[in-house]
Amino acid sequence: MPPLLDIRELRVRFGATEAVRGVSLQLDEGEVLGLVGESGSGKSASALAILGLLGPSALVSGRILWQDSDPGNQAMIDLLRQPPNALRQVRGRQIAMIFQEPMTALNPVMSIGRQVAECATAHAPSWTGREAKRKAIAALEAVAIPEAASRYGDYPHQFSGGQRQRILIAMALINRPRLLIADEPTTALDVTVQAQILDLLAQLQREHGLAMLFISHDLAVVGQVASRVAVLRSGEVVETGPSARLLTAPVHPYTRSLLAAVPTLRTPRDQPLAVVRSKQPVSTLDTPRTG
Ligand SMILES: Nc1ncnc2c1ncn2[C@@H]1O[C@H](COP(=O)(O)OP(=O)(O)OP(=O)(O)O)[C@@H](O)[C@H]1O
Ligand SMILES: [Mg+2]
Repeated sequence: MPPLLDIRELRVRFGATEAVRGVSLQLDEGEVLGLVGESGSGKSASALAILGLLGPSALVSGRILWQDSDPGNQAMIDLLRQPPNALRQVRGRQIAMIFQEPMTALNPVMSIGRQVAECATAHAPSWTGREAKRKAIAALEAVAIPEAASRYGDYPHQFSGGQRQRILIAMALINRPRLLIADEPTTALDVTVQAQILDLLAQLQREHGLAMLFISHDLAVVGQVASRVAVLRSGEVVETGPSARLLTAPVHPYTRSLLAAVPTLRTPRDQPLAVVRSKQPVSTLDTPRTG
């Protein structure tokens, strides 16, 4: 059985910056793979490459093979070599993504109900308004938005950060994708809400047999949801393995320093956190980024 997603030697370059330098990753149907690395290590650039969402300034090479569910298309297709309309079919319907900042990912002047319903009708244009509304309410209920039906007409600013992230999860899952890419989905949230969202994602992943690429700079968070983890440093995978092993017996010094940078209950409060050592000079790490 070929993997659901097979990334081979992916490279992404923005001008002189090599953001992704020959990344190869495989993801099986229903599997959760964690992608971890410090800020600027190329996590978002890799994710956006899968969906063809990097702007024209990005030079992308390699192969991103996807097990297409289109019945007329039995073979793996290379997402980097699809015409825009074929890629649109895959994006949103077969592969969905949730982003780090829930407020910027939602349209502030459109009711959340309409935004969720539009995600559904974008891929099922034959649905009536009433059908789409019913589907949207069910999707909001599935992510535990309280009183979803009566809050259908409310706007994003009327919800909390955690609720907005739930709404984005509802939008991502409404078309029953086979792969969900979650790029730092809990980083903007406080710790309690972060735990609730992680639980929700894990629950939905199990219920739908969904494959997930879970991205975070925090190895401890990744370890909670992913069964396997790939560690990215300066655009290269330095270590891959089962999360339990990476969390307890990391082999690569960089993975060890990522773990040491995570505070635990036993970390003395007055002790400064470990600094993650990188091959990249600090000036490169501080360059502006989008993700
Ligand atoms: N649109 C862009 N134009 C120019 N450089 C970019 C662009 N997007 C990303 N980069 C650069 O590519 C590198 C990788 O960025 P990327 O956004 O993938 O990092 P990341 O691992 O997602 O970091 P973070 O954890 O902060 O989100 C960085 O050096 C960044 O400055
Ligand atoms: Mg990012």
